[in-house]
Amino acid sequence: MNYKNIITELDNGLAIVTINRPEKLNALNRETITELHEAFKALNADKNVKVIIVTGSGEKAFVAGADISEFANFNIEEGQKLAALGQELLFDLVQNLSTPVIAAVNGFALGGGLELAMAAHFRVASDNAKMGLPEVSLGVIPGYGGTQRLPQLVGKGRAMEMIMTAGMINAEEAKAYGLVNHVVPQAELLDFCKSIAAKIMKNSSVAIGRAIEAINANYTDGVNGYNVEVTAFGESFGTEDFKEGTTAFLEKRKAIFPGR
Ligand code: COA
Repeated sequence: MNYKNIITELDNGLAIVTINRPEKLNALNRETITELHEAFKALNADKNVKVIIVTGSGEKAFVAGADISEFANFNIEEGQKLAALGQELLFDLVQNLSTPVIAAVNGFALGGGLELAMAAHFRVASDNAKMGLPEVSLGVIPGYGGTQRLPQLVGKGRAMEMIMTAGMINAEEAKAYGLVNHVVPQAELLDFCKSIAAKIMKNSSVAIGRAIEAINANYTDGVNGYNVEVTAFGESFGTEDFKEGTTAFLEKRKAIFPGR
């Protein structure tokens, strides 16, 4: 499918989604959010896609935030709608995909950019990356899940400080905070993410999807994550992947998972 603001590539089960507005530091305008929604939905529905990497085009930015020029004149209702729709179309969608999503943070990840990276299942940063939620410097607060996901990842006190100061942290600080899992030189970022993807792809995609669901349940209001785990664990026993995984182990060979 052809998009205007993003590029999607598919190679051997690995999809790479590149946000491609480098002249605007890949800022998320409405059209880009819609295109990302379509792309993530389609890739998740494609059983040949085992892992998705999301990154930004150019060497400067992952995503420098929501497109400020689009909401500068909004009123209260428009502001609420912007946040609610964005969360539904993109940020909650990405968090709840059954296909693993790795954010390859290749430069500035600010505001909605960091919120997108945080909605991904985990993050790898290039050594030049800078991350922050600078919304209060514009007179607003993070609206795409940042006030919820940042404390989940870095702890309440650090999230409070980052959001109140509107400051940026560098890649090494982000790693020390637990915001990103790895920091690598920029030229190696995609290959490094691909090597993690290759490890993921050897495993059962069905089981991985259920594990994502169970982990996310811990962060969902009114849901008992332990109960979700018990259900998903039990249902794993009814999958072809489980039969193949256990049979391969007993036959001392590598499993070839059918993904069902
Ligand atoms: N929304 C809209 N446009 C943005 C943008 C955003 N969030 N971030 C960057 N851009 C645009 C700039 O307006 C500029 O466009 P122009 O060339 O047409 O003027 C272009 O991207 C390049 O950005 P520029 O500011 O010139 O680059 P810089 O290297 O001097 O600064 C940043 C980089 C990231 C520090 C700076 O762009 C910035 O602070 N961006 C906004 C970050 C932010 O507040 N995000 C949260 C939004 S809720």
